[in-house]
Amino acid sequence: MQKNFAEMPKYIIMRNLITIMAAIGIAVVTSSCSETEKQNDKMSDSNIAIENIMTRTSVREYTSEPIGNDSVMILLKAAMAAPTAVNSQPWTFIVLRDMEKREKLAEALPNAGTKLTSSAVNIIVCGDTRKMLEREPEYWIQDCSAATENLLLAANALGLGAVWCGIYPNSERVETLRNIVNLDPNLIPLCIIPIGHPSKPREIKDKWKKENIIFME
Ligand SMILES: Cc1cc2nc3c(=O)[nH]c(=O)nc-3n(C[C@H](O)[C@H](O)[C@H](O)COP(=O)(O)O)c2cc1C
Repeated sequence: MQKNFAEMPKYIIMRNLITIMAAIGIAVVTSSCSETEKQNDKMSDSNIAIENIMTRTSVREYTSEPIGNDSVMILLKAAMAAPTAVNSQPWTFIVLRDMEKREKLAEALPNAGTKLTSSAVNIIVCGDTRKMLEREPEYWIQDCSAATENLLLAANALGLGAVWCGIYPNSERVETLRNIVNLDPNLIPLCIIPIGHPSKPREIKDKWKKENIIFME
């Protein structure tokens, strides 16, 4: 039989109160989560970091404006902020301004070509065998690739233009670059990145393809 409130034992009243408060708590948390999700959805369209990722594109033509070492240091800090396996950071970055070497590289590496000389500065991203993981040294490729992408994104954020010019795993390109810049034998060049001020507006490619995704729900 249903008792009125005054007749209920104190422990039942307490239990009911706790149940009601828990239900209110869950409702508040759930509604604030969905609010946060909604806000995140809105933010993703206008978020400055996301926009920087979506507008990065390879830039191959540059003005003659120079790039100072302050900007180069920002690019290198961004590169070194990349994730690496076991935080090994197995890299060395070469900042190449020497025009004589760049001319030789431009001639010997047609895939990079005159981009190396028309840009303001080149950065060579190298794996460093002394810092690679003993058991899984091959992670250096992912690690240095992550650093390269960070560098390209930072360049875009600074209004600079850059392009990843592949060296490794093409052994001919590796040896050519090694000889021209007299590379330390512990270093393996992954890529060379010419960086300059873009000479024309960026042409952004739309690469979004929903069919590239498998949803497992
Ligand atoms: C591993 C790798 C190697 C690349 N090598 C070259 C290269 O040698 N020369 C070049 O002009 N671009 C090179 N690129 C740039 C690609 O051509 C470019 O990223 C691609 O066409 C997509 O264009 P986007 O960067 O403007 O989005 C390379 C990119 C990657 C990731």
